[in-house]
Amino acid sequence: YVIGIDLGTSAVKTILVNQNGEVCAEVSKSYPLIQERSGYNEQNPEEWVHQTIQALADLVSQSQVQQIEGISYSGQMHGLVLLDENQRVLRNAILWNDTRTTPQCRKIKEEFEEQLLNITKNPVLEGFTLPKILWVKEHEPETFEKTSVFLLPKDYVRLRMTGAINSEFSDAAGTLLLNVTSKTWSGEICRKFGIPESICPPLVESHDCVGTLLPSIAAETGLSEKTKVFAGGADNACGAIGAGILSPGKTLCSIGTSGVILSHEEDKGKDFKGKVHFFNHGKADAFYAMGVTLAAGYSLSWFKETFAPEETFEQLLKGMESVPIGASGLLFTPYLVGERTPHAGSSIRGSFIGMDGGHKREHFIRAVLEGITFSLQESINLFRQQGKRVDTIISIGGGAKNETWLQMQADIFNAKVIKLKSEQGPAMGAAMLAAFGNGWFTSLEECAGQFIKEDAVFYPEEQSVQKYEGLFNLYQRIFDLTRDLNV
Ligand code: XUL
Repeated sequence: YVIGIDLGTSAVKTILVNQNGEVCAEVSKSYPLIQERSGYNEQNPEEWVHQTIQALADLVSQSQVQQIEGISYSGQMHGLVLLDENQRVLRNAILWNDTRTTPQCRKIKEEFEEQLLNITKNPVLEGFTLPKILWVKEHEPETFEKTSVFLLPKDYVRLRMTGAINSEFSDAAGTLLLNVTSKTWSGEICRKFGIPESICPPLVESHDCVGTLLPSIAAETGLSEKTKVFAGGADNACGAIGAGILSPGKTLCSIGTSGVILSHEEDKGKDFKGKVHFFNHGKADAFYAMGVTLAAGYSLSWFKETFAPEETFEQLLKGMESVPIGASGLLFTPYLVGERTPHAGSSIRGSFIGMDGGHKREHFIRAVLEGITFSLQESINLFRQQGKRVDTIISIGGGAKNETWLQMQADIFNAKVIKLKSEQGPAMGAAMLAAFGNGWFTSLEECAGQFIKEDAVFYPEEQSVQKYEGLFNLYQRIFDLTRDLNV
């Protein structure tokens, strides 16, 4: 058996997987977001460690299996964890969805945008790690002075479980400090912004073994001290691995709190000019291009929490399937916390447009789903404009849980959409890295062949595709018309 751990934004999910890729047990534990001010999103790294250990202890006691050979991780990207020389956490982690760093981003863009794009292949965005480091340097200089190393969220949890300090390329790629093609920390960027290169952790491959469990962790979880620990990857890289996105021509649509459209890339010379992200994959020497909708699942959970807190998502979505395409004239833009792709704007906010006295609750719900999917279509549009063929999309996460939404994706994306059997998201990608790292398979592709099974295919319907094309044109215009509205 192997264990996959996915350190998410709202919870940590752990799964126990056997050699056939079957999930034998699953335990999740949640932790809170700390939002002291508008735009601030922090978490206490100790809480991640505590809940991960609790989840593993429950997983082990529930399943009663002895032979757990490997563990690996997937984690929320970009979050900044700062440690002092005794490896103590210096402040709460500043997360990917924290938008306080607009002034730092402006400064980076003014002074170094083009060089940074050449080195990192990525745009300057509030969510990424470099602007967060610069914010701490500016606002909490004493903390910055004490920093001996920075880590990304899952890398900190792994440190606490093994004693080994490491990061790996797929998560390092989201810091804006990595030279994505040469796979080295960029001394040039560090020097430019007065960051000692020594605070960047050593880098390994996602499937590399970085050690075994500390005796204290083994005792707390019930796992053996011999259990091998593999580095793991960024949640989007692991989501891609767990959905079999391991060769060109395969595209992923993943809807969690945020939503992503991601496509496998092998050519490191590929140039998206910063319009989408370009990160190292969890598969060695591969890459992926990705567009992000910040409030994807979040838009739906915002709607539920605000208007129907007692209901489950299933109850909430009931009735939405009989509302016609276009929600009878109601359009929603999901910019509740700003938007990444394609607008890269942290101050834009969302909207409902076209409300009618006859609209019912289910019209609003359908409009929310369509708005989230239109936002993801913006990323597919960018891929297609760069000459990428996008005709087969594997859908995972919240968007794969409802058949009407899956058909909506096929019609809006104008592509075949595949739903997987017993899909486990990034946790499965982490388990696959442990399985491959442990030598169960000769490649991740071979592992995917064994672990991943298709469940259903949704084909675009010509008439619906056309209707959505017209609506998408309207949707795209709303950004400009609403960009000056402020909260
Ligand atoms: C990706 C991103 C999010 C987080 C969510 O760039 O910011 O998808 O990884 O965990």
